[in-house]
Amino acid sequence: MPRRLDELAEARLAELKEAGRLRRLRPYRREGTHVVRSDGACLVDFSGNDYLGLSQHPELIARSRAWAERYGAGASASRLVTGTLEAYVAVEDKLAAFKGTEAALVFNAGFQANATILPALAELFGETVVYADRLNHASLHHGIAAAGLRQQRFRHNDLDHLRTLLTRDRDKPGRRLIVTESVFSMDGDRAPLADLIALSEEFGAHLHVDEAHATGVLGPQGKGLTAAYPGRIDVVMGTVGKALGGFGAYVAGSRALIDFLVNRCAGFIYSTALPPSVFGALDAALDLVPNMEHERTRVRDHAEHFRQAAKHLNFSTGASDTQIVPLLIGGNEATLQAQAWLEEQWLLGIAIRPPTVPEGEARLRLSFSAAHSDADVTRLCDALAGLEPPR
Ligand SMILES: Cc1ncc(COP(=O)(O)O)c(C=O)c1O
Repeated sequence: MPRRLDELAEARLAELKEAGRLRRLRPYRREGTHVVRSDGACLVDFSGNDYLGLSQHPELIARSRAWAERYGAGASASRLVTGTLEAYVAVEDKLAAFKGTEAALVFNAGFQANATILPALAELFGETVVYADRLNHASLHHGIAAAGLRQQRFRHNDLDHLRTLLTRDRDKPGRRLIVTESVFSMDGDRAPLADLIALSEEFGAHLHVDEAHATGVLGPQGKGLTAAYPGRIDVVMGTVGKALGGFGAYVAGSRALIDFLVNRCAGFIYSTALPPSVFGALDAALDLVPNMEHERTRVRDHAEHFRQAAKHLNFSTGASDTQIVPLLIGGNEATLQAQAWLEEQWLLGIAIRPPTVPEGEARLRLSFSAAHSDADVTRLCDALAGLEPPR
């Protein structure tokens, strides 16, 4: 006789607690770059992905409100059912122009995009071997698993390893697909895109690149790192919930790719379209982002300031050279203690532990925003002095 669901869930939760892996939701209220917890604690947020501060930008809020008033609170159906709002098509044209591609398609979230585009590609390609960077985001792994594809994980950013795998598989039937992020979410380092493109061309492989953490922040006018390689990457996706300040995701590519996804990608077809307010915020972000060079410089400077301070105290920040900076600690317990120490200093930097990162590589993931003041960053750097660097 199976036990009740609640009993099973409680037993599993107890196991997770025992393993130090229990997660819980912590309610808070936001005030600019600060989070205010229910107990009144007010912390500077160094854990979010609002890299340009756009989530609080008056223009995004105003356009979001205006589009809700004009078009309504919800989209009422999937875009293939009732039709697609003209205003949504105009936003996608703006997105394609921003990314320098023929076409673009908005998805409801980055997770939904990766989890459902990859199965659609699998249908298109037939038998396929996938080569995935070992540190790829969970949504990419999810998409590959949902596609039922065989996945070879290559060592993080290790082109020699990838070449070895591609060479080993040379005589295997089917297509090849390389999947990577352009900026890695937990390490803040960049994929060697030029070399990955060269390898994909040499081996006739397709390439899927996730620009979640590059969009808005890196590349000319914040167009992302793929902007330097027009027409040479099959699928480029990115998210709207990070530097673009709103919510949702996009795929940018050829007209044929976008038309194919409209016809065969379940995550697009069978999901109610994003509400007009969300598209309105994206429309405003796309107007602002190309001209936010000042903010991009600020983010870069904040992150560099912190990396230098960490280095001075013998902390490693790995290969980070972007607005995401891991402070590598190693042990799970020591990393949780480091997070607690920051909280005592009214700073929020989240401990990231396995399985999100490899075993023994727990870290504080710190992320910088143009909205942080110089004083906020200095406080964070000063707080490092109270932490023990790993030996
Ligand atoms: C690299 C990467 N891809 C995809 C996603 C998922 O995007 P979304 O939050 O829009 O679902 C994330 C979110 O953390 C991410 O870091």
